[in-house]
Amino acid sequence: MRFPLLAAALLACAGFASSACAQPRNAPIVIKFSHVVAPDTPKGRAAERFKTLAEQMSNGQVKVEVYPNSQLYRDREELEALQLGAVQMLAPSLAKFSPLGVKEFEAFDLPYIFPSKAALYAVTEGRIGRNLLRKLESKGITGLAYWDNGFKIMSANKPLLAPADFRGLRMRIQSSRVLDEQMRALGAQPLSLAFSETAPALRDGVVQGTENTPSNMYTQRMHETQKHVTVSNHGYLGYAVIVNKKFWDGLPAGTRRILERAMAEATAYEKTIAQRTNDEAMAAIRRAGTTTIHTLSPQQQAEWRKAMAPVYTRMEERIGKDVVQAIRREAGTP
Ligand code: LMR
Repeated sequence: MRFPLLAAALLACAGFASSACAQPRNAPIVIKFSHVVAPDTPKGRAAERFKTLAEQMSNGQVKVEVYPNSQLYRDREELEALQLGAVQMLAPSLAKFSPLGVKEFEAFDLPYIFPSKAALYAVTEGRIGRNLLRKLESKGITGLAYWDNGFKIMSANKPLLAPADFRGLRMRIQSSRVLDEQMRALGAQPLSLAFSETAPALRDGVVQGTENTPSNMYTQRMHETQKHVTVSNHGYLGYAVIVNKKFWDGLPAGTRRILERAMAEATAYEKTIAQRTNDEAMAAIRRAGTTTIHTLSPQQQAEWRKAMAPVYTRMEERIGKDVVQAIRREAGTP
């Protein structure tokens, strides 16, 4: 039960204009950075790197408190907490922004939208990426950066080699309509669950399978209950690092510049470790020996693509045809 916690945090902050709550003079500026994954993941490691850099570069004027593993809030709650000022910084998956009324980020969930990491970076580091972050401003949120995780694998309690293998399976998804459509296109029944609920739901049989990156699967020990994993790379999972806009705009300009520099360095670091962290997690899953790892033949891959292709036409209107087309053009999506 985290709602009482949220209420308590908000009461503690009530009456203060910014999210910084009550801070005595000369006390460091505190940034509470909440996230839902384990510390030993690309996001978890980068959050720690940002903390180190921000604290060093500001000579202790800024203190960053990182709360991993949904310790403070789960997915939906953390967005509310950010808007209300109970925490200052988050890095939610791009699949989780539609509750804010910004559905365009769901374009990142479209199956096979990015043929490579280079194609992804062309989008996130260019004009499209900047324009998407700008859409958050009207929600009281400033977007600072994109952080990478990786391409997703599929897991279940049975081998998933052909689209027909998904028929009737209850699959956990993140809260994205595009992912919902993707699972339906494969013949599965999607169930949106918070990240913190996923490993228990797999263990208890509430869902029979899921999709995620190897680092998320391994650090949540999902491989211990999922007997089969398919290295399908059918979709992407990444993040936007966001701050409460009122808090950010209220910072002294010099402090904001320092934090921007710290964020730029942490982001560059994140980019160097994301793939490696996922490769290491995949190797660890393999070593654990609890899960059979499948790869798809070119023909099987073609069948998966074909089965998921209708998701584009079904979701184009929701996401915005212009956004989907712009991303496809920039990414060179076949
Ligand atoms: C998930 O819910 O599976 C992911 O968004 C978790 C994360 O933050 O990587």
